[in-house]
Amino acid sequence: MIEEETKKVEEIIEKDDSEKTIDNLPGVGEKIAEKLRNAGYTDLMAIAVTPQSILMEETNLGDTTCRKIIQASRKELKMGFMSGAELQKKRLEVGKITFTSENLNKLLGGGAETQAITEFYGGFGSGKTQIGLQLAVNVQLPKSKGGLNGCAVFIDTENTFRPKRIEMMAEAAGLNPKKVLENIKIARAFSSDHQMLLTEKIPELIKSGFNVKLVVIDSLMGLFRAEYIGRGTLAARQQKLNRYLHQLQRLTDRFNLAVYITNQVMSKPDIFFGDPTQAIGGHILAHASTFRVYLRKSKGERRVAKMVDSPCLPEGEAVFHVTDQGIQDGE
Ligand code: GTP
Ligand code: MG
Repeated sequence: MIEEETKKVEEIIEKDDSEKTIDNLPGVGEKIAEKLRNAGYTDLMAIAVTPQSILMEETNLGDTTCRKIIQASRKELKMGFMSGAELQKKRLEVGKITFTSENLNKLLGGGAETQAITEFYGGFGSGKTQIGLQLAVNVQLPKSKGGLNGCAVFIDTENTFRPKRIEMMAEAAGLNPKKVLENIKIARAFSSDHQMLLTEKIPELIKSGFNVKLVVIDSLMGLFRAEYIGRGTLAARQQKLNRYLHQLQRLTDRFNLAVYITNQVMSKPDIFFGDPTQAIGGHILAHASTFRVYLRKSKGERRVAKMVDSPCLPEGEAVFHVTDQGIQDGE
């Protein structure tokens, strides 16, 4: 099974590599190629799916040049409309990672999906990180047990990753704790730029043979929030966040992997009824997340998850527990 998955990834990479590279793209000379490379654009797919304005901003190339490069990349990759049948075929490849809790699985339509960004937001201690750790273990399970035979990347912005906790969860799942830890690559991000750079490196990691099927970002907004303080910086922050979210969406799409992000809440004192909390990140994040779930702490180990936004699932709630064994339904 693992071999089969790895082969698929290799095929994707081979397809990319066998195509033209940025150096021999029409209209791209040495200088332009260097500018592209310096901005992190090393393959055609990255260029093809980037909006022109962003390519201009990041490479300092003119608008005509950028438009031509993007068009040439798209032509080269034979990108265009996808038929309904092709889209359906792509949807058939969607994989799901179990949350271990059947209640959560049901709420999310079977598990955390590949080709999608799943966002869990909530207050302190609500279980966001615990779910991320659990998914990093569960992605390694065989498909028959709700996994994807894959590996995980964990981008940690808050220094909350605990190997011991992974071992506890792995043991409870009947997996070898040492092997499970080996199959999780942890990267500590120190700034939002660093966080983006680490994410950019994931395709290379996959090319090296690490079969990434899950990327956890805990938390998505923490560093962005700390670096951009005050009203005057909000537009710049959102612009960068937008670019980052596109980067994540491209990853889910290109490698058929799942992205799980955690997010914080801010209180909205002007709301009198219901829960006066809201996810941070604004509309840009709200639109980028395929699934949005709000977590709330209840008594003891008990937690309540509420589906806030999903393309096809009904809104609803699920109860689960954070136990020594990990995420569970509880009694
Ligand atoms: P912030 O990152 O602070 O915003 O919170 P979070 O939503 O990420 O919370 P997290 O997932 O870290 O959940 C922390 C809670 O999980 C703790 O308050 C404990 O209730 C529970 N927890 C963590 N580790 C264990 C464990 O080993 N055993 C048990 N039973 N519970 C644990
Ligand atoms: Mg946390």
